[in-house]
Amino acid sequence: MTKITWLSHGSWMVEKDDHRLLIDPFLTDNPAAKTSADELHGIGHILISHGHFDHVADAAAIANSQNATIVAIYEIAEWFAKTHDVQSTVGMNIGGQFELPFGSVKMTPALHSSQLPDGSYGGEPAGFLLTIDQKRIYFACDTALFSDMKLYAANVDVAVLPIGDLFTMGIEDSVVAAKLIGASKVLPAHYGTWPPIAQDANHWADRIRSETTAEPVVLKVGESLEI
Ligand code: NI
Ligand code: MN
Repeated sequence: MTKITWLSHGSWMVEKDDHRLLIDPFLTDNPAAKTSADELHGIGHILISHGHFDHVADAAAIANSQNATIVAIYEIAEWFAKTHDVQSTVGMNIGGQFELPFGSVKMTPALHSSQLPDGSYGGEPAGFLLTIDQKRIYFACDTALFSDMKLYAANVDVAVLPIGDLFTMGIEDSVVAAKLIGASKVLPAHYGTWPPIAQDANHWADRIRSETTAEPVVLKVGESLEI
């Protein structure tokens, strides 16, 4: 059993047995978050999709207080090591795979931008494909719709797609993405954090149900899906 918990926005916790992994922890100064960074314990790995503040915000503090490993594209991994003294980092790149103690993570492309908060070059934006116990979980992260999603994430068990619009794809394109991927379950993310990315997730779920073969799973902040 793998447990996926929505911490709001693009922030997720993935738990498998005693292992805990975070994706893009953004809790401090996040009006939608219900958990603070120091309430999270036992984090072994933190995946960072790209350099924007709403994805890197709490990563260094969590990594440094819990000896967690930051896994990110090479430029961002180096940035955490050099500017935030993070001791354990793994720099990877698009298309590469890294073995975790409980599965594997492949870095997938994303169509977005990726400057770090201090203006440093953050490399290319990414998504992640996790494989845990033969289950495949695709986190598209911040991205527009692009057809190569189908190559990387075809028929995944779970696809997490942004629906907030403005900074990422919105509802319309996430329905197309869900169709393209053919995921069994799709979860919405990156919406509702601030007024410009407010969305009606129930409307999105109705569209997924009527226009795709996927099952929509709308989590509230703090809720989990077990697969
Ligand atoms: Ni972004
Ligand atoms: Mn974002």
